[in-house]
Amino acid sequence: MKAVVYDAYGPPDVLHIQEAERPVPNEDDVLIKVYATTVNRLDVHTREANRSSGPAISVLSRLMSGVRRPRQRILGSEFAGVVEAVGATAGEFAPGDRVFGTSGLRFGAYAEYMCTRASARVALMPEGLSFEEAAPICDGALNALTCLKAGDLRQGRTILIYGASGAIGTAGVQLATYFGADVTAVCGTKNLELVKSLGADRVIDYLHEDFTQNGQTYDVIFDAVGKHSFARSRGSLKPGGVYLPTDGFSNLTWALWTSRFGDKKVVFQIPPRQTKEDVLFLKGLVEAGKFRPVIDRRRPLEDVVEATRYVETEQKVGNVVLTVGGRND
Ligand SMILES: NC(=O)c1ccc[n+]([C@@H]2O[C@H](COP(=O)([O-])OP(=O)(O)OC[C@H]3O[C@@H](n4cnc5c(N)ncnc54)[C@H](OP(=O)(O)O)[C@@H]3O)[C@@H](O)[C@H]2O)c1
Repeated sequence: MKAVVYDAYGPPDVLHIQEAERPVPNEDDVLIKVYATTVNRLDVHTREANRSSGPAISVLSRLMSGVRRPRQRILGSEFAGVVEAVGATAGEFAPGDRVFGTSGLRFGAYAEYMCTRASARVALMPEGLSFEEAAPICDGALNALTCLKAGDLRQGRTILIYGASGAIGTAGVQLATYFGADVTAVCGTKNLELVKSLGADRVIDYLHEDFTQNGQTYDVIFDAVGKHSFARSRGSLKPGGVYLPTDGFSNLTWALWTSRFGDKKVVFQIPPRQTKEDVLFLKGLVEAGKFRPVIDRRRPLEDVVEATRYVETEQKVGNVVLTVGGRND
């Protein structure tokens, strides 16, 4: 089968198209013919062994993914496609089923075929969605959902979402709106209209206004893009407020410290716990018209290097989709 592989950690051009062996499903696996996948920050960080996060994190990353070279040569975590075959105990699915999901750190989706356990984060595709629309459902939304669960969002609660235009941010705005919270979203000028259209009650342009200086306070501050900090936003939290980061290992120290001292908490879950039930929850939201992943651009799998370079600019709006095999019904 055709696949994008890499044999060394490094810049985007370590990725190249190659013939690879088609995976064979174990008895609890489904074999999926992939029609769409994405380039997300998990792919990008893993490919460069998290070098940009500093030497300590890079060592940890290599311990997980392969010390000298990547153990899993095929990246790609999000997928949408059609079940080709099922193992003996994977009876939840049948050949011909249209499915979507995420393989997380197991990767394997930058290929014509991939295997995943039937009990893992895979589900039937929401009715009425194309493969390109279904592939980017999971990454941003599962990361947002994991964080927001700690925010006890409901009617009457206020949340500020910083970095509301990324994969996690665009999903976070829609989920927080669904949970009934009052949502203030922060993003750059060019994305204000989009973020408002996702359900935010109000938007702040961080290029023209510093939300920490306007006197407003919130029950929850969600840094969906890893560009803010608890120290800077503490004054904008109400008493008993919660700060939810998505990145930055200093937040682990803050989480420990605030669990013992002070009434404002940092909650940082590493690794994030994401389940099949969460994927089914998202499927239900999509079918109810309450959530739709935002797609910045679509490119064929062959353009993976260019698409990856774009994701590394940290300027994508929502998600970048890769199409595989030219089918998109
Ligand atoms: N996706 C994952 O798998 C994953 C998992 C765990 C953690 N994380 C971390 O979560 C964070 C967000 O990931 P993501 O995939 O959602 O990001 P993303 O989609 O790459 O975010 C891109 C958006 O960030 C905004 N942005 C860039 N610089 C900014 C700044 N200084 N202040 C505010 N907004 C800024 C840009 O919009 P504007 O033009 O509006 O600024 C752009 O639309 C990253 O730090 C990532 O490492 C990601």
